[in-house]
Amino acid sequence: MTAEPLAETARILVADGRGLLAMDESNGTCDKRFAAEGIPASVEARRSYRELLIAAPGLRTSISGAILYDETIRQASGNGIKFVKLLNDAGIMPGIKVDTGAKPLALHDGEMVTEGLDGLRTRLREYRELGARFAKWRAVITLRDGMPTRACLDANAHALARYAALCQEVDLVPIVEPEVLMDGDHTLEQCRDVTEETLRSVFSQLAIQGVLLEGMILKPNMVLPGLGCPIQESVDVVAAATVRSLRRVVPAAVPGIAFLSGGQSGGLASARLNQMNVIANDAGSRLPWRLTFSFARAIQVPALAIWRGNPANAGAAQLALVHRANCNLAALSATYSAAMESQLKMPLAAAA
Ligand code: 13P
Repeated sequence: MTAEPLAETARILVADGRGLLAMDESNGTCDKRFAAEGIPASVEARRSYRELLIAAPGLRTSISGAILYDETIRQASGNGIKFVKLLNDAGIMPGIKVDTGAKPLALHDGEMVTEGLDGLRTRLREYRELGARFAKWRAVITLRDGMPTRACLDANAHALARYAALCQEVDLVPIVEPEVLMDGDHTLEQCRDVTEETLRSVFSQLAIQGVLLEGMILKPNMVLPGLGCPIQESVDVVAAATVRSLRRVVPAAVPGIAFLSGGQSGGLASARLNQMNVIANDAGSRLPWRLTFSFARAIQVPALAIWRGNPANAGAAQLALVHRANCNLAALSATYSAAMESQLKMPLAAAA
């Protein structure tokens, strides 16, 4: 591990006022999202879609890094240029999802543990050679009666810390993603308590494994009521609760916090991130880390719905993608407003 380059990579990813594009859906998840839009699944469909995302004009203004999937990091554009090269040429750092998915946790019905540690050292070396500069591992925490259990929190925190240490060994910046799911009818207060407990476990395990905090990025959920909760708090309440929880548990040495969107609409995710940066910019409440985004759905959803597998729609889909990315860019400087949502100028053909 070389501390300086790790810290510098982490800093570049979060500290220059841009965010990350998560485009690391596994083949199964990507195919499921394609199916919802009536797009037939194939290697070529996934490749074309990822090329559309990477080649979107102006994406570099808002995006510092793109998280790829195993299939994608090996792919190239239609005219044969490796995606990794396209990203580097655009000033966007390539990263890679390295977990192999959440699997049922033995003896704990309904809970999951993320797998992928076996053989990870070898895979990380290969990804480094393929051009990845950072990695991602997502743990999934379910909030329901009696859940999460201590067994679930400990198993996931331990795996996240082992993954992060293996990444730093080969100078890859680990994105550490413990996601408390939005599914359920829990309250914001319940999400707050579980999020804080989860993050406490994660940072305890990171310390035990010797992970360099300056050379990692945290990717948490926002503190939100469950999707089925009858009380849905305002943007201001969500932003304040999220910032308060993070202050309680995230060490100041961590350079940046890049939120996942977790199924929030694009507009809400931007508005909540914006309000957190309002708090961060307040001289009386300065935060030690940068607050940015690492969204998949909250950036990609409109683009996929426009594209629908039709090459004629690619340009309009790219406009929609860059628009969502720019809304989130504005949220980083606390200048996002709902009015931005109507500023997307679509070519007439795209409306068809
Ligand atoms: P969402 O923003 O769609 O939650 O995805 C982020 C991510 O990387 C999930 O692992």
